[in-house]
Amino acid sequence: MDRMITSTVLSLTVLLAGCAGFGEETNSSQLTSSDNAEKQSGMKEKEQEDTNHANKNKNETTDDTPVSGKEPNSDKGNSGMVVVEEPNSFQVVVNKNRKLPDGFVPKNLVVPDVPFYFDEFHPKKQMRKEAAKALEELFQGARQAGLELVGASGYRSYERQKSIYQNNVKTRGQEWANQFSAKPGTSEHQTGLAMDVTSAQMAFKLEQSFSQTAEGEWLAKHAYEYGFVIRYPKGKSDITGYSYEPWHLRYVGKETAEEIHQQEKTLEEFFGLLPSKQ
Ligand code: DAL
Ligand code: ZN
Repeated sequence: MDRMITSTVLSLTVLLAGCAGFGEETNSSQLTSSDNAEKQSGMKEKEQEDTNHANKNKNETTDDTPVSGKEPNSDKGNSGMVVVEEPNSFQVVVNKNRKLPDGFVPKNLVVPDVPFYFDEFHPKKQMRKEAAKALEELFQGARQAGLELVGASGYRSYERQKSIYQNNVKTRGQEWANQFSAKPGTSEHQTGLAMDVTSAQMAFKLEQSFSQTAEGEWLAKHAYEYGFVIRYPKGKSDITGYSYEPWHLRYVGKETAEEIHQQEKTLEEFFGLLPSKQ
């Protein structure tokens, strides 16, 4: 495509995203991700994000280091949450029980060469270099199958995630927000390993009905071949802590993704971690 998605389409998208409503998981056609709220963010958040890029990453652990299951030495602090010890690992697990270290900013963030629903640079176009390359290959694979995926939202700073989460609580309520939106410090988007994807057929929205489109079906079937998993699968919200998000891709590396796909497990199940709090 057609890397050019016109501002007219973008305006329409934002309008439609703003119109979407609340629904039950079984009524997928009415569900819209909290991530849609991000499309409506303005320059204020962009400035915050740019500022955060100046933060120093104190975590010098290497990539591709599998996380240990229990992390007994992790600092649980007063929150009762585990602070993950390997935030740079492609297999890091963050969820409602497991947060990133304070001030964590992933290294090597780049913009993947894939179509997005908007043209200008934004930090949310970024992913870690390895994940970005894998995403390019995944989009190419989809293209060869005659399908056009569109990127929507990748890396988020702590401040950006905070803003998105608070906006969701304000506009949709705490219960809804906690089903679809991670509290700051606990979002995979902060790792640079996640990307929300959509399509023109979805009017670039993030909704559960994406799973019934050709692009969504292809993704569910083939994402693992490129090192990605659908992080929040249908019917697993008691384990992941989040409702079904067929649009949320998480890079874990090809070998791990293949095993997870074959075993039909969540990251929590695969790595032997306890279920998340609800
Ligand atoms: N939508 C996912 C859970 C996030 O906010 O990271
Ligand atoms: Zn997401």
